[in-house]
Amino acid sequence: MATIMTLRLTCVALLVVVAHLELTDAAVRVWGMRASRLEGDPTGPPDPYLKVWCGSSFAGMTQFYRDTSSPSWNAEFHIPSCRANDNLKLEVWDKDLNVDDHLGTCITQVRYGSNNNKSCRVGKGTLTYNYKLS
Ligand SMILES: *[C@@H]1O[C@H](CO)[C@@H](O)[C@H](O)[C@H]1NC(C)=O
Repeated sequence: MATIMTLRLTCVALLVVVAHLELTDAAVRVWGMRASRLEGDPTGPPDPYLKVWCGSSFAGMTQFYRDTSSPSWNAEFHIPSCRANDNLKLEVWDKDLNVDDHLGTCITQVRYGSNNNKSCRVGKGTLTYNYKLS
């Protein structure tokens, strides 16, 4: 009898742990960012990089690639605080000697599941990325 009670308690404890893990596991992952036909100043192709935000939280930035109008960044962002309906924002910047130029911004309202090949216009070019809310 005592063994069965212990087993039951163990099961309840496990369920609580699993439910908690699922809650705290909710997070947005952003990856596979690439762009095409980006234009910087007239002197040549831009040195593009990205800044990523979710709501008012800054998630980080990528490295920049010198003289590249169609970059592909292999960075990946994990944003634990990012929730459904938050605004996920990717800003495209051109690295400069003094003040970097803001080339454009993609904003999307976060939805559950896998969202692949989302894209938006950045000047005359395009930014494409994937994100997943789980
Ligand atoms: C996203 O784009 C890549 C590259 O063009 C392609 O291989 C892949 O099948 C696309 N995925 C979806 C879900 O459309």
